[in-house]
Amino acid sequence: MTVPKRVLKENVPMQRNPLGCFQVIRCRAAVAWAAGHPLSIEEVEVAPPKAGEVRIKLVAAGICRTDEHLLQGCFPSAEFPVIPGHEGAGIVESIGEGVTSVKPGDKVIPICVPQCGECSFCLNPESNYCLKSHFSEPQNLLPDKTTRFTCKGKQIHHFLWMSTFAEYTVVPEYAVAKIDPAAPLDKVCLLGCGFSTGYGAAINTAKVKPGSTCAIFGLGGVGLSVVMGCKAAGASRIIAVDINKDKFAKAKELGATDCINPRDCQKPIQEVLTDMTGQGVDYSFEAIGLKETMIAALASCNMNTGICVMIGELDAGSEISLNPMILLTGRAWKGTLVGGWKMRDCIPRLVSSYLEKKFNSDLLITHTLPFAQVNEGFELLRAGKSIRSVLLF
Ligand code: APR
Ligand code: ZN
Ligand code: ZN
Repeated sequence: MTVPKRVLKENVPMQRNPLGCFQVIRCRAAVAWAAGHPLSIEEVEVAPPKAGEVRIKLVAAGICRTDEHLLQGCFPSAEFPVIPGHEGAGIVESIGEGVTSVKPGDKVIPICVPQCGECSFCLNPESNYCLKSHFSEPQNLLPDKTTRFTCKGKQIHHFLWMSTFAEYTVVPEYAVAKIDPAAPLDKVCLLGCGFSTGYGAAINTAKVKPGSTCAIFGLGGVGLSVVMGCKAAGASRIIAVDINKDKFAKAKELGATDCINPRDCQKPIQEVLTDMTGQGVDYSFEAIGLKETMIAALASCNMNTGICVMIGELDAGSEISLNPMILLTGRAWKGTLVGGWKMRDCIPRLVSSYLEKKFNSDLLITHTLPFAQVNEGFELLRAGKSIRSVLLF
C-alpha cells in the first residue's frame, strides 16, 4: 500500500443530483485525528454523492485488525485525520448521477476491493485485484481525489474508500455490493472483510482438497474463518495455532481437530507440525501478520506439494529474508486479497449462502456494542478478548 501523498482539493460546489438529493448530512463518525490516539466521536458533515457515487446509511460495522494497524500508524500512505472502518453493512440513502446498480433503500455491503468490471484484472476470471482500486489510486480520498467528510471546518480522509465508522459514508458505485433484502445487516457486515478473507483464502486461494491436512496460524476473526473454509472444503485434519489458548474452544467449535500453543512446545512450531503429520501439512495459512510466523507457516507445509497462504499484513516497508531452498523443492507461497473473491459478484452470493445456512459466521461475533463504544471494541481486540466486535449505529 505505497501510495504517494496527495493534497486535498477543495470540494467542488454541490449540485443537485437526479433524485433531487443535494443536502449535506450531519451525523456521528469516529475520527482518528492522529496516529496512536483513541478515536473521537464527532459530528461530521457528509457531502452528497457525486456522479457514480453512493451514499450509504451504515447499520453495523465490524472492527478488524487492519483498522488497528491504521490507528497505530502502520500504513505510511494513510493520512490523518481519517475515519477508519472497512467492514460494514447498510442501506443506500442516495445515489449520484449515472448510478444504476443500486437505489435508495437497497441493502448493501461496501467492499474493500472494488470491481470496475472493465480493467484487465476484472476481466480475468483468476484475478480479483481491480486496477481502478484504491491500491493504485489514493486510498484516503475518493477516486476524484476529494473527500466527502468534513469536521470542525477540516477535511477528513476516507479509508480504503469505505470509512464504515460513520453513520453515513460515500463510496464509488463499483465499490458496493447489493445484497438480499432479507440479510441481517448486524451479522453479514463481517462478510465485508474478515469472514470473506479467511474463508476465501481456504476455498479460492489454497483450493483446499477433501481429506487434506491444514494448519492455521492465528485464531482471530480471519484465522477462524480459514478454519471454517478448510472444514467446508472437506479437510480431515485442521490444526489451529495460537499463543492465546482462550481461542481454542471456538476453533474446535468451528472445525479444528487439534489446537497448539507454540509457547508450550519444546521445538519450533514448524518442527512440531512436521512431526505430527510426517511430511508437513498440505496447506498452511498465516493470519497474524508477523515475519516469524510467516516463515514458520511456510516451513510447516510439505516441501514438495505444500501451499502456504499469507493473509496477515506486515507493517509497510517490512522485508522477509529467506533461504530460497525452502521453495526450490516445490512448495508454493501465495498471498490473498480478501480471499480471492471478485467482491461485487461474490459478496451477494456469500450472503445468499449465509441465509441458506451453508456457514455460520455469527459464531465469530463475540461482542455487539453501540457505536459510541468503538474504543472499547478496540480495547477488547488489543486484549485478545474479542474475536469480532460489531458496532451498531
Ligand atoms: N503465534 C501464534 N499466534 C499469534 C501470535 C504468535 N506469535 N501473535 C499473535 N497471535 C494470535 C493472536 O493471539 C490472535 O488470536 O493471532 C491472532 C490474530 O487475531 P486478530 O488480532 O483478531 O486479527 P484478525 O482480525 O483475525 O486479522 C489477522 O489478517 O487481515 C489481516 O490485518 C489483519 O494482519 C491481520 C490478520
Ligand atoms: Zn477493475
Ligand atoms: Zn479487515
